[in-house]
Amino acid sequence: MKHLLSLADWSAEEIRSAISAARAVKAHPERYRSALAGRTLCMIFEKPSLRTRLSFETGMTQLGGHAIYYDTSRSPLGAGKESVADTVRVMSRYVDIIMARLFKHEDILEMARYSSVPVINALTNFSHPGQILADLQTVEENFGTLRGRKLAYFGDAFNNVTHSLMFACPKLGMRLAVACPAGAEYEPDPAVTERARADAEAAGGEFLLTHDPREAAAGADVLYTDSWMSYHIPPSEKEARVKVFSPYQVTQELLALAARDAIFLNCLPAVRGMEQTAEVIDGPQSRVFDEAENRMHVHKALMLLLLGKFTA
Ligand code: CP
Ligand code: NVA
Repeated sequence: MKHLLSLADWSAEEIRSAISAARAVKAHPERYRSALAGRTLCMIFEKPSLRTRLSFETGMTQLGGHAIYYDTSRSPLGAGKESVADTVRVMSRYVDIIMARLFKHEDILEMARYSSVPVINALTNFSHPGQILADLQTVEENFGTLRGRKLAYFGDAFNNVTHSLMFACPKLGMRLAVACPAGAEYEPDPAVTERARADAEAAGGEFLLTHDPREAAAGADVLYTDSWMSYHIPPSEKEARVKVFSPYQVTQELLALAARDAIFLNCLPAVRGMEQTAEVIDGPQSRVFDEAENRMHVHKALMLLLLGKFTA
C-alpha cells in the first residue's frame, strides 16, 4: 500500500486491514500519540470540506505530527501558473504525506505518479475511498461482520461515494444494491458496474442495480444516501435534480422495508427534506455522526499504515 487513490486498487485483505487498524486506533488512541512526531501532512483542497479537513488535521495532531491546509485557490496551481506534476515534486521534498480533494480523478493519479511520498485521495468527482472505509468501519461496529450484510444505496449513483461503495462492498462479500433513476448521468459509470458484478461473483457477494428503491431496501442492513447536489454540480441543475431524485428519498416508509435493526448512513453534508427526511436522519436508526467520527480514526490509520508506522 503506497497510496490510497481508489479502493479498486486495494485487495479485500488491504481494506479489512485498514478498517481493523482504524478500530485499533479508535480503541487505543494513547498508543499512537507520538507515532508521527516530526512528520508533516499537506492537505490540498480544490473543493470545500468540514469532515475531511478537520478529521485529517486533528488526526495528525493526535499522532504528534503537523498538517498544512493548502487551498489551491491561493496557489500557483490554482492560478494556472504551475503544473500538478511540478507542484507535487516540490511538495514531496518538504512533506511526508499528501492528501488531496480534487475535481478531476486524473489529477490525483498524476499526483501519485510524481510524488515521492504517499498520496491519499480525499475525494475526486469519481471516487471517495476514505469515506467508504469509515462507512464500513461503522457497519462493522454495528453488526460485528461485513460479509453477507446488505447495503442499499439510494439517489445519485453517477457519484464518487457510490463508485467507492461499488469497489469495496462486493469484494468483501457484501450484498450491495444501488437504486437510482435511469440515465447515464444518474447511473454508476458502466465500467464500475461491470467491475462490481465481477467482484461480487468472485467473492460470493451480490450486486444489484435497480430503478426500484423498494427492491433495494428490502431486507437491507444499511440504507445509505448521499447529496443530490455534490460539490461539483452547478446550482442551476438543482430543480431538475430534485425532481428526478425525489422518488429515491430515504423515508421512514423505505426504512420499514429494511431489516428491523437496519442503520441509516449518509456521508454528509445532508439536507433534510432532500436525500432523506429529517425523521430518518434524526431518528434512532441513524448512525451518521458515528460515521463522521470514524473518518478521523480511518484517516489516522491510513497515515500510520502508509508511513509504515502502524503497530497493532
Ligand atoms: N463526507 C465528507 O467528505 O465531508 P466533507 O465534504 O465535509 O469533508
Ligand atoms: N458526493 C458528494 C460527497 C460529499 C462528501 C460530493 O462529491 O460532494
